[in-house]
Amino acid sequence: MKVQRKPHTTFFPVPPVLVTSQAEGFRPNIITVAWTGVVNSEPPMVSVSIRPDRHTYRLIKASGQFVVNIARADQVREVDLCGVYSGRDTDKFKLTGFTPVKASRVDVPLIKECPVNLECVVRQSYLLGSHEIFIGEVVAVHADEEYIDEHNLIDVAKVNPLAYATPHYWSLGQTLGLYGFTKKEK
Ligand SMILES: Cc1cc2nc3c(=O)[nH]c(=O)nc-3n(C[C@H](O)[C@H](O)[C@H](O)COP(=O)(O)O)c2cc1C
Repeated sequence: MKVQRKPHTTFFPVPPVLVTSQAEGFRPNIITVAWTGVVNSEPPMVSVSIRPDRHTYRLIKASGQFVVNIARADQVREVDLCGVYSGRDTDKFKLTGFTPVKASRVDVPLIKECPVNLECVVRQSYLLGSHEIFIGEVVAVHADEEYIDEHNLIDVAKVNPLAYATPHYWSLGQTLGLYGFTKKEK
């Protein structure tokens, strides 16, 4: 039997990504964002939804740029730290020990220690209610060499990305098959 529950964003798992931002007159900042996703393929676009009271909101509004840094499961502590302290009064690069690295296409640093980084330029944004969704075109992608396999793909097993299902952090299990494997069975 199904039990009806109140409308809620019951949607899991999601990746809790580390979003970096920077604007003139402010130090670079890191925020944890779980309300994120892929929204277009050509051009490549991703979204991040951010409450207007976050310090990050001000920075992204001012610069129109952000970087999505994918976190590994073993970076769960840093992910939580960036989600409970504000850049308004805390230097989160110092707090986490993360290293800012110059990006190639935006004036926002990448996090060196994160395996994959997506440089984004805001193309559209909408205030939906509690959150504003920023739709960013991915203008550059970086991956640590050590995570690139012999087929030039990112080795997700090696990355071991962090997952989130409110209110818990999770790590993924093992791969269950390749895209389209059922067609190849015939
Ligand atoms: C796991 C997790 C996921 C979060 N997801 C979001 C999110 O999607 N959007 C958002 O605005 N805040 C989210 N937060 C809260 C912000 O990360 C938090 O308020 C942070 O301190 C804001 O930092 P800032 O003021 O430096 O921007 C999340 C926090 C955690 C721990």
